[in-house]
Order: sequence, then structure tokens, then C-alpha cells
Amino acid sequence: MEALRIKAVRKKFGPLEVLKGISLDLEEGDFLVLLGPSGCGKSTLLALIAGLEDITAGEIHIGDVIANDLHPRDRNIAMVFQSYALYPSMTVHANMAFGLKMRGVSTADQDEAVKRVADMLDIGHLLERKPGQLSGGQRQRVAMGRALVRDPMLFLFDEPLSNLDAKLRVQMRSEIKKLHNRLQTTVVYVTHDQVEAMTLATKIAVMQAGEIQQYAPPEEIYNRPANAFVAGFVGSPQMNFLPGRLERGNGDPRLRIEPANGATECTIPIGSLVESSLGNGEEVIVGIRPESIRPAGSSSTFTFDAAIELVEMTGADTLATFILGGHEMMARLPAEEKPALGDRIGLSFDPASVHLFDRHTTVRLN
Ligand SMILES: Nc1ncnc2c1ncn2[C@@H]1O[C@H](COP(=O)(O)OP(=O)(O)OP(=O)(O)O)[C@@H](O)[C@H]1O
Ligand SMILES: [Mg+2]
Repeated sequence: MEALRIKAVRKKFGPLEVLKGISLDLEEGDFLVLLGPSGCGKSTLLALIAGLEDITAGEIHIGDVIANDLHPRDRNIAMVFQSYALYPSMTVHANMAFGLKMRGVSTADQDEAVKRVADMLDIGHLLERKPGQLSGGQRQRVAMGRALVRDPMLFLFDEPLSNLDAKLRVQMRSEIKKLHNRLQTTVVYVTHDQVEAMTLATKIAVMQAGEIQQYAPPEEIYNRPANAFVAGFVGSPQMNFLPGRLERGNGDPRLRIEPANGATECTIPIGSLVESSLGNGEEVIVGIRPESIRPAGSSSTFTFDAAIELVEMTGADTLATFILGGHEMMARLPAEEKPALGDRIGLSFDPASVHLFDRHTTVRLN
């Protein structure tokens, strides 16, 4: 069953249109991540789903009802914010039971629901404390617990982990994932952290300036980004982009990289990578992920020499900045590779891993 259907939704604040026709469908049990840069409209879309803001145009269906004019209270959703919005003077137990109490649930049933969820989140021993006596991670759990006791149709999360330190974030991320695997609830989760998006989502909607750029499962977003924006936004370090031209002479098609800064030209044979509909001389953006670039001598087929401009060791791998055709690029190499600054080293990549985008529309071509 469809848990959520958003149809051509627009939102204006005065003259400013911040959502420009958003459509997406979500199956029951899906974990949708809204991913995009600051200000692209993620929280606004969440607020429309929650009923905290009015919709300017379009429809939102939750389950099988049109929710446009439903009061937030009647939407059967639970929300977890970045600021956990716990009541400071109430105990953890009272915070978690608050929504149930407001709905007239009996004290016995409140206690049972709080206990069940507290056990699940491992906060049973904290129930008599006040929020001020908790760590950030514990507060985060309580905020989640407060949403979970309600057993709603839809969970909405707005950057729930952004106040936590890096280690706790990773830990809580895994816990949210486990919880979702177990409960199979339907979730809409806002973040601008692409690792969170990739690891948690069953589907990602990449947003930019009030529009969805791509709506697809995480693997597809990563492997087949729909345009250069998505390609550049997802993946870290970012995908390398080079201006190129498609050359179809006799023999296999090639990509001629347009040199910058007086560098020598470089051509990449690309075999069957492109559709035959792409014409000779077509101007493209060539996208190569840093992790697609390997030391020369591995099985990758296109090999070249490059001067190393910068070496950054992360521990797990070596990030090497180099110049190709006058363009600065980055390779993510195995940690054993430790090139020195100024070295010329052999690098390679498989032409099949190249992403091609239209230079003018930036839409994916291959
Ligand atoms: N109540 C409001 N009145 C006017 N403009 C608003 C209002 N709320 C949000 N906006 C504007 O709408 C745009 C989208 O804001 P929104 O909060 O949805 O972005 P976001 O994607 O959640 O960003 P962030 O990642 O920074 O949280 C922004 O330009 C913002 O300034
Ligand atoms: Mg926001």
C-alpha cells in the first residue's frame, strides 16, 4: 500500500516559491531520505507533510486520505526534530507519555507503551531523570522514544542526528537502521549528510532549489546519477568533472578532454560507453569518481601519468590530488599508496566507470 503520495506540491512564502512542484510516492515500510543543500526546501516539505504549514498547491495523501486540510493532530504521524524539543521540567517517562496522555490513553496503557519503547531503545534506567540530566545521545533516544510510543502511520525526522558528535552519530545511525529493519515503519528523514542518506534510505529524493533532481534507491543515485548536480552532491570526495568532446572518427569513439592552462590534450577511448545517438563533436561533461581511479597496473584499462599536487592520508585510504589535461582531479587510492608531492605516478581507470553529462542541460547521457 502507498503510505504517502505527494502530488505536484508547491509552497510559496509570500512571493518566494520554495517548493516548485514536488511529486513522489512512498510504499509502506519505505525509508525516504530527503537530501539536498541548505535552503533547498527539505524542512518545508516535511512541515507540509506534518501539517505545520499550508500547501500552496498540489495534494498530499497519507495512507488513503487526502491530508491537505487535516489538522496535524489528525494525521497520525510522529515527528523528531533536530532540537529534540523535550519538556525540560518533565521526566523522561512523562516526556515519552505526553502524546499518549493528550490523546486520552489510560495511565496503564501509557506505562506499558513507554516501557516497551524504553526497553527497545535501552533507556529504561533513565525514565525518572529530567532531560537536563541526560547526554546528547540519550536525549536523542528519548526524542525518538516519544515518537515511537505513538505507533503512527508515518515518522518524520528532521536532521535528528546533527547535534551529536561524529562517533555518536554513526552509532545512532546504525540504531535507527536496525529499528527500521525491525519495525518496518514508513519514514521520511531529512538530512544534508549523504552518508546518512546512503546508509539509511530505501529511496533518496535529491533536492535542489525546491525541485527533486532524482528520486531513486541509493545505489542508483550513486551509480547512475541523473544529472551533474546529483553526481556532484553524492559521493565524497566529490566526483571529478572535466569538459570533453565526443569524437567519432573511424574506430572506437573517444573522449577528447579539453585542456586547460596550456596542458597537453588527453583522449580516453570509451568503447561502447555511449549511445550511438550521440553525435560527433558533442560537448559533454566527463565525470569520474575519485574511487574509480586506481594505481596503474591494476585491471583498469585507461592508463595515464600524472603529477601529484597534494597527498592526504585519511588512514583508510590516500587522497591524491593530481592534474590531468590541466584540470585538478582527485583519486582515492589504497592506503598503501603513498606518493610524494611532485611525484609523477601512473594512474588508471576503467572507461566503463565514466559518467557523461550533457554540457548544456547537465543531464546524464550514458
Ligand atoms: N516561514 C518562512 N518564511 C519565509 N521563508 C521561509 C520560511 N521557512 C523557510 N523559508 C525559506 O524557504 C527556503 C527553504 O527552507 P527550508 O528550511 O525548507 O530549507 P532546508 O532544505 O531545510 O535547509 P537546511 O538544510 O538549512 O535546514 C529557504 O530559502 C528559507 O529561507
Ligand atoms: Mg531544514
